[in-house]
Amino acid sequence: MIVVANYKMNLNLKDYKIVLKHLNNNRVEDTKLILCPPFVYVPFFAKNKTWYALGCQDVSANSKGKCTGQISASMLKDFDVTHCIVGHSDRRAFETNEDIAGKVKQLVDNEIIPIICVGENKKDEADALIIEQLRTTLSKINAKAEFYIAYEPVWAIGLGETATASYINKKVAIIKKEIKRLGFNNPILYGGSVDEENCINLKKCKVDGFLVGGLSLRTDKLISLLGRV
Ligand code: PGA
Repeated sequence: MIVVANYKMNLNLKDYKIVLKHLNNNRVEDTKLILCPPFVYVPFFAKNKTWYALGCQDVSANSKGKCTGQISASMLKDFDVTHCIVGHSDRRAFETNEDIAGKVKQLVDNEIIPIICVGENKKDEADALIIEQLRTTLSKINAKAEFYIAYEPVWAIGLGETATASYINKKVAIIKKEIKRLGFNNPILYGGSVDEENCINLKKCKVDGFLVGGLSLRTDKLISLLGRV
């Protein structure tokens, strides 16, 4: 299983020192853990990481130049970043599917695995939105590209309400069908209020792993989730 921990804009250096100490002393076998801290802490994570992989929460859609405040995929590569979340619902208010497609291309060109978030805003919303998110965001890469799709129903993020396993499986089937039609066959993750208790039930989902937000802030709970999935 794959577990992506999205720290969002939380914690500070003092906290992250404790987080990494705790994780470094509690290696979990058989689960691929990817930690995604805020950009400024990436060098600290790169220097201190051990058994887990390092990811980021965003990247520029451009390779260099007049992009004040942005960070390119090649800069991330300098710090051993191997994965990067793009299209998270926290960011979709500021960016289009086209923008996200540019980010995906930059990451793939720099051999960083994009974790592409897709998902409907409201429960039972028509699937056309997800299909469009997939079609456009995958439009600039070829069939050999490595990426993960993170299915994250926006209505289930951060609110303590997960989708049911059967609801998730229905959406995952739609995602799999669409990416297959586009020529891909890549891992699919689920995200949205996953915790160390409900992950046991969510294991019934036909997914390759989970993206966790709030739970990442409690390293003890994150470690127990890793042991259960
Ligand atoms: P959550 O966040 O686990 O707190 O719902 C998931 C996410 O935003 O990726």
